Amino acid sequence: MFESLRAVPADPILHLSELYKQDTNPNKVDLGVGVYKDETGHTAIMEAVSRAEERLLTLEDTKAYVGMAGSKRYCELLAQVTLGSDSEIISNQRYAMAQTPGGSGALRVLAEFINVVKPGATVWVGNPTWANHIPVMESAGLVIKKFPYYDAVNKCVDFDAMINTLTSDTSAGDLVLLHGCCHNPSGADLNLEQWQTTANVLKDKGLLPFVDIAYQGLGHGMDEDAQGLRIMASTVTEMIIASSCSKNFGLYRERTGTAMIVTQDLGQAHIAQSQLNSVIRSNYSMPPSHGAMVVEVILSDPKLKQMWRDELKTMRKRIADLRRQLVDAIKAEGVEQDFSFIERQTGMFSFLGVNAAQVDQLVNEHSVYLVGSSRINLAGLNQRNIAYVAKSIAAVL
Ligand code: LMR
Repeated sequence: MFESLRAVPADPILHLSELYKQDTNPNKVDLGVGVYKDETGHTAIMEAVSRAEERLLTLEDTKAYVGMAGSKRYCELLAQVTLGSDSEIISNQRYAMAQTPGGSGALRVLAEFINVVKPGATVWVGNPTWANHIPVMESAGLVIKKFPYYDAVNKCVDFDAMINTLTSDTSAGDLVLLHGCCHNPSGADLNLEQWQTTANVLKDKGLLPFVDIAYQGLGHGMDEDAQGLRIMASTVTEMIIASSCSKNFGLYRERTGTAMIVTQDLGQAHIAQSQLNSVIRSNYSMPPSHGAMVVEVILSDPKLKQMWRDELKTMRKRIADLRRQLVDAIKAEGVEQDFSFIERQTGMFSFLGVNAAQVDQLVNEHSVYLVGSSRINLAGLNQRNIAYVAKSIAAVL
């Protein structure tokens, strides 16, 4: 059976952690996988999460199955987090939702759900997009097409080109995958006006928005980061949303996310829910519970919620500071090339904008680990390594 099996190439993002671990250089810096690190380089458990876990130890009285869609209360709370508590979609209950194993699990079950509704549907993704978007969609049977997104010369969204392609090359019934905030990998987000323009185009052309919001709260704030998504939700009638608690609750390994389908009315929501459940049942049957329970405890308790928001604010602010500090540190190395775009972008990532050979040099000669596309995770910087990283960048330019 396995004699003809060929190994697949290493994952472009996750394999960096392995390489980093094996590296014996004491100056090594990990700017690879999108995980928040504190000033000591550690991905600490958030205090609010630890408190919730303590509570769960006494509160939780069963390990019985949670059901295909997971906790209803968790889903309700997350719907408020994503859509806003005053959302008409919530009051009219015109959505189907499931607790999923992380944002990736959400993407996968939503892709399979789409493939049930419209087998082989086309999903338009921005160029570039998160490296795993395409494999997740394609392995569910969907067809990927790309619209221009990042302007590598001007270091911003190539909005005119994006809108031109979405207007001219798409067909009604196609899906358009958008990043809710903190674009991964570029850090370049649509502004609110651009969200509205995009929403209008999608509405006019009968395209279905598929929003992946994996970094809510890491850009400008929990509500601020969802504004674009909410503009979209108030413009169109149907929409698909994948969200993640990996980064904003630091629950990476607990695999905690949500899959949401916004429908025209309550009746369609019930039908969509049954299909979503069926996709989940034939896939992993039901989600893991722990991460979602932690989130549920935090969001249900005003004190814990405030504690979590404060911690998230500290993380957000630290990333923004690191962006500024890296730009300054590169300048201090006498580099004339303008890196100020890093300061203008949001979330954990930016492209350095160096070529593949320079990325190789950074990794192999300087032990500065970054993704092959030149994506860096700003949250991997700290006061001990930032000057070294700037010096290494200057050396390869
Ligand atoms: C990333 O982009 O680095 C994260 O989303 C982790 C992953 O799974 O790729």
